[in-house]
Amino acid sequence: MTFHYIKVWDGWVRLNHWLILVLMIVSFATAKAHRMDWHMLSGYAILTLLLFRLLWGLFGSENARFRHFLGSPGAAFRQLGKLGRREPDTEVGHNAAGGWMVLLLLALLLTQAVTGLFSYDQIFSRGPLARRAPEWLVDLASSIHVQNFYWLLGAVAVHVLAVGVYFVAKSHDLLGPMIHGVKKLPVDVAAPRLASPALGLGLLGLSAAIVWGITRLRIGL
Ligand code: HEM
Repeated sequence: MTFHYIKVWDGWVRLNHWLILVLMIVSFATAKAHRMDWHMLSGYAILTLLLFRLLWGLFGSENARFRHFLGSPGAAFRQLGKLGRREPDTEVGHNAAGGWMVLLLLALLLTQAVTGLFSYDQIFSRGPLARRAPEWLVDLASSIHVQNFYWLLGAVAVHVLAVGVYFVAKSHDLLGPMIHGVKKLPVDVAAPRLASPALGLGLLGLSAAIVWGITRLRIGL
């Protein structure tokens, strides 16, 4: 079989991925160190990246779009059933099982960031929307914000383990393409259509503006 190298992940997907990883560590460290000013800034940055990733999943590069990588649950189970089979990688995006994992990670990250907006530590640190929300909602959001983090860590552990299993069981290198963007695939696999950098910049700006708007909501209260 002959292979060629094609660009599978655009810079936006890769930058988004690794920035979220760094910011998750920053958020954890700043919460532990009680530097809530930095913790909130890190949370706003994560929320911006998540909003951007949702928009990129609708309007961005072909293989980054949700409809490209979200198949039926049956397809996901069939994919997992083939885990022990050694065959060349033919994916230009997430495979059917990986797509659901991506959705879970994004949902848990979004839950973490949104509950942070409503959280109150009962001392002096409040998310920008905590003053506007009823007490029961603030209590609920604060408790989810603490507990969801452990679910998120569990999902990240499964995610990293899955990348390792694909490498060991199938010799599929998923990590390299998430770093440099390029994958070695059979010649009959066509390269995905990548969206323009200008669109990425515009959607990132829009996401940042929305998050900035949310942080401003506390003014006057
Ligand atoms: C905080 C930790 C992490 C989070 C929240 C996270 C989340 C995600 C998300 C949301 C995606 C989908 C990317 C997209 O379509 O935009 C993804 C893909 C990916 N992640 Fe992570 N990730 C984390 C850590 C890691 C680490 C440490 C590795 C290294 C082993 C890794 C390797 C990958 C790879 C290789 C893919 C692409 C998988 C594929 O080709 O289907 N991730 N990750």
